[in-house]
Formats: sequence, structure tokens, C-alpha cells
Amino acid sequence: MNILVTGGLGFIGSHTVIELIKSNHTVVIADNLINSKIDVLNKIETVVNVRPTFYQVDVTNELDVEEIFTNHKIEGVIHFAGLKSVGESVSKPLEYYYNNLVSTMVLSKLCLKYGVEKFVFSSSATVYGDQPSPLKEEVELKRTTNPYGETKAMSERILTDIANAHEKFAVSLLRYFNPVGAHESGLLGENPNGIPNNLMPFVTKVAKGELPKLTIFGDDYDTVDGTGVRDYIHVVDLAKGHVKAIENLNKGVNCYNLGTGKGTSVLEMVNAFMRVNQVAVPYEIVDRRPGDIATCYADVSKAEYELDWKAELTIDEMVRDAWNFEQKQGLIEL
Ligand code: NAD
Ligand code: UFG
Repeated sequence: MNILVTGGLGFIGSHTVIELIKSNHTVVIADNLINSKIDVLNKIETVVNVRPTFYQVDVTNELDVEEIFTNHKIEGVIHFAGLKSVGESVSKPLEYYYNNLVSTMVLSKLCLKYGVEKFVFSSSATVYGDQPSPLKEEVELKRTTNPYGETKAMSERILTDIANAHEKFAVSLLRYFNPVGAHESGLLGENPNGIPNNLMPFVTKVAKGELPKLTIFGDDYDTVDGTGVRDYIHVVDLAKGHVKAIENLNKGVNCYNLGTGKGTSVLEMVNAFMRVNQVAVPYEIVDRRPGDIATCYADVSKAEYELDWKAELTIDEMVRDAWNFEQKQGLIEL
């Protein structure tokens, strides 16, 4: 298949491009580099020996994106491009709504115009809000607590309405849990700008000595050890889930949780990191972070049954690969 991957130079997109090429698909990437570097294209080429066609475009710009649809016979779109920082979305709501919603509308409009029938969308477990785990796809969604989460919930609704109105437009809504880890080569991984918000990139910076200590947000939750529990999934497993999703796309709207189905606490993650990598991660317990929930993990039986996909990599492999990647990175750019 000829697949347009938006945000294909980002963390999850770049790993997915590799898995698509390994599965003999032809990839065209559209990315405006707002949160990635062009160097990732060279790294993809190093890993798979193929250089995907790259367009440096903002996918909210319809004219620019249309050029891609006229230059290539696109057969499917995987839409990763988006802004993803929960905290930033609270202070810059308009940027988040504009970027994340207009991109989805521009791409789906062009899919209808050019007869592209397969659309895979990067959604998030955040759309569930605070509900009991394991989370099943069919539970009613609760309003999320931040504009970022709302852009995911709204994009899901927009795509659902379009698929309901156009019989030939099939959509897969993929709800990711907590993607971590890196490519085994150590060439590709997650390298956020500035001080990381998410647990794993923060842990790797502390282990490297670039940040003095990890702050653990609360140890008084009703969980195994009082710290927050999440469903961490290796980014390579997540990438493979996208290949399965686009290859097995049924008509209408298809929604899947992509996680492991297992919850791991913050302390369990940190201890696994120290044990596997034989490196210290000093930490301090502080107050809960506003907006956090105690526990969030997936019921993954639907993806397993319908897509024949299951996450295979373990927590030990996630922390090993995250550390391997971090050791190859430069210092934090503030
Ligand atoms: P990322 O920031 O590493 O990748 C996103 C890519 O999209 C970047 O390369 C960025 O430059 C590009 N981009 C952003 N806006 C663009 C635009 N208007 N036009 C063109 N390119 C644009 O993020 P990621 O972690 O790879 O996440 C990919 C997708 O998955 C996002 O939609 C994100 O919201 C979603 N998601 C991520 C997580 C997570 O924890 N990483 C969890 C759930 C959902
Ligand atoms: N945590 C710490 N210290 C830190 C960072 C995080 O203790 O410095 C804890 C959090 O309190 C939470 C757990 O580690 O218990 C995971 O936190 P992350 O920030 O890594 O991830 P979240 O589950 O809060 O959110 C992530 C993404 C969201 C996405 C959600 C579900 O950031 O965008 O997963 O997919 F919506």
C-alpha cells in the first residue's frame, strides 16, 4: 500500500514508518518538524535501507497537503501529526484545537476527494477520563480534563461522523496507553525539548545526571505501592499495531486500545530501570500532580481478537531500550 504518514518523523511515527517499510509498504511522510528533526529521516534510512519520500509541510495547510495527494496515489493515511503536551494545551488551547482538529479535517477532506478509503488516527487513553480499569473500548467517554484530551475526543467524533456518512471511508481509532522505549538500534526514540513531562524520559535524564532527581507525584493512591499505575507499551509494539490496523481495516469505525493490558506503578518502573540498567535514579516523593488519576490500563482483547496483534515486549525491554537510546543523545536543550 502507498501510505501517507503525517508526523512520521516523531517518536511513534518514525517507529511506525520502519515497521511499515519492513512490511513492504511504500511510505510518504508529511511533517513540519515542529517537534522533530530532519535527521530522523537519515536514521530511518540507516535502519531499513529505504529513504521514504518526505514533505516538510504543515498538515493544516490544505493546498500543501493536496500536492501530496496529486503527486502520489495514496491508499491509506496514518495521522500522527499533532501537538501532545497536556500542560501546554492548558496555556495554549487555541494552538492545540487548531492544529489537532484542522489537520484531521484537512486530511479527511482530501481522502474523500481523492478516494482514499483507509484512515488510521492516533488517539489516546486520555479520552476515557477517570474510569475504572481495565478500560474497554465501548465504555462511554467522559469529558477529559484538558484541551489536548478534548482534541482527541473531538477528532474521534469528527472521523466517526464522516465514516458514518461515507460508506467507503473506513477509520481506525487507536487509543494508545503509555508508549515508552526506543528502537533497538538506539538511533530512534523519544527526545522531548526541554525538561520532560513524562515519566520515562525524565527517568533517563536523571540516570544520565542531567537532572538531579526524579519527583514521584504521590504515594498515597489506592494502588499496589501508592504510586500511579499505568499501562506502559513498547513503542515498537505500538508501531506494529498500526501496521495491523491499516492492513485489517474494516468498513466503518473501528476503535482499539493499544496497550499491554498490564498496570505498572511508578516505583515498579523506576526499580526495573535501576535493576536492568545497573544505574541509580535518585527520587523524592512529592504531592500528587493535578489532573493525574490513580490507575489506567487497557483491556486489549479486542485488538488481539480483531487485529491479531498483541504487545510482546516486556517492561525490562522497555527500560533497557529507553536507556540505550538516552546514552546516545546530546545534552538537554533548554
Ligand atoms: P511527536 O511530537 O514525537 O510526533 C508528532 C509529530 O508531528 C512531530 O514530528 C511533529 O513535528 C509533527 N507535527 C505536529 N503538528 C504538525 C502539523 N500541523 N503538520 C505537520 N507535522 C506536525 O509525538 P508522538 O509521541 O510521536 O505522538 C504521535 C501522536 O500520538 C500524536 O498525535 C499524539 O497526540 C498521539 N499520542 C501520543 C502519546 C504519547 O504518550 N507519546 C499518547 C497518546 C497519543
Ligand atoms: N510521574 C511521576 N513523575 C514524573 C512524571 C510522571 O511520578 O516526573 C508519574 C505520573 O504521576 C503518572 C505516571 O508517572 O502516575 C505516568 O505519567 P506520564 O506523565 O508519563 O503519563 P500520563 O499517564 O500522565 O499521560 C500520558 C501522556 C498523555 C496521554 C496518556 C494516556 O502524557 O498525553 O499518557 O495515553 F494521554
